[in-house]
Amino acid sequence: MRLTNRSTLGSGLFMMLRANRSTQSSGPSTRGGSSGRSRAAASRRAMMAMMVFFFLTQTGCWEQVSVEWFPQMKWQIAVQAFELNPYQDRIGLFSPPEGTVPVGWGDVIVASEYTPAEQEAFVNPNRATLASLKNGESYFNTNCTACHGPTGGGDGPIAAPRGPIAGVLPIGPGSPLGFSLAPGLTDGHIYTTISLGRGRMPSYRRIPPDARWDVVNYIRDLNGQGGR
Ligand code: HEC
Repeated sequence: MRLTNRSTLGSGLFMMLRANRSTQSSGPSTRGGSSGRSRAAASRRAMMAMMVFFFLTQTGCWEQVSVEWFPQMKWQIAVQAFELNPYQDRIGLFSPPEGTVPVGWGDVIVASEYTPAEQEAFVNPNRATLASLKNGESYFNTNCTACHGPTGGGDGPIAAPRGPIAGVLPIGPGSPLGFSLAPGLTDGHIYTTISLGRGRMPSYRRIPPDARWDVVNYIRDLNGQGGR
């Protein structure tokens, strides 16, 4: 595609140069007469027509020419974003080998493999350091405040009565109901609530497991149950 474009453009320029030279040499002093002039005018017109033609066609195509110099890395056979995957039926090629875990997700407790009683008894491996609380705060603000509110009072913008999610339970101070549930919940209970969801609350397993424990620490801090 590109080569064709360049070569047509090249030959176009070449023909224009030739046309130009022939107009100069066929001036009235050498040839004379009206036929020479009209031939010169005709060849000028032809040249103009050709220039217009090439201007219109070449600029149109020019936009499609890649400005990348070595695009081989980009134009590889890998499936590109939004491209139809020709190997959809061969899903095995795309699943990671068995036992693969995302970076930072090693040794994860898979909460659903434990009984409710065992889940309640999970021990928080993260101490409530400032770093842990900061990390927990960040995840809490991103994932929890929409429903539970900035201090966990159950008064987030999408919680009833302001929003559509009814029955968001208070897990921090500031609740219109005047109490927080969190002090009565074990660390394991909060961790598994984040991991698996509970009742009408969806799972937030998108939060890396280690950071879930930081969120637990942060909730403790919100409730005055852990020191900064
Ligand atoms: C989409 C709204 C929503 C979001 C976001 C949300 N929750 Fe909840 N949460 C709820 C609702 C609703 C309940 C009450 C669940 C029930 O008992 O049906 C609840 C209950 C809880 C409970 C109490 C569970 C119990 O057994 O009483 C905890 C703890 C909790 N959420 C923690 C969190 C944490 C931590 C986050 C952020 C990672 C979070 N929630 C994000 C809606 C939400």
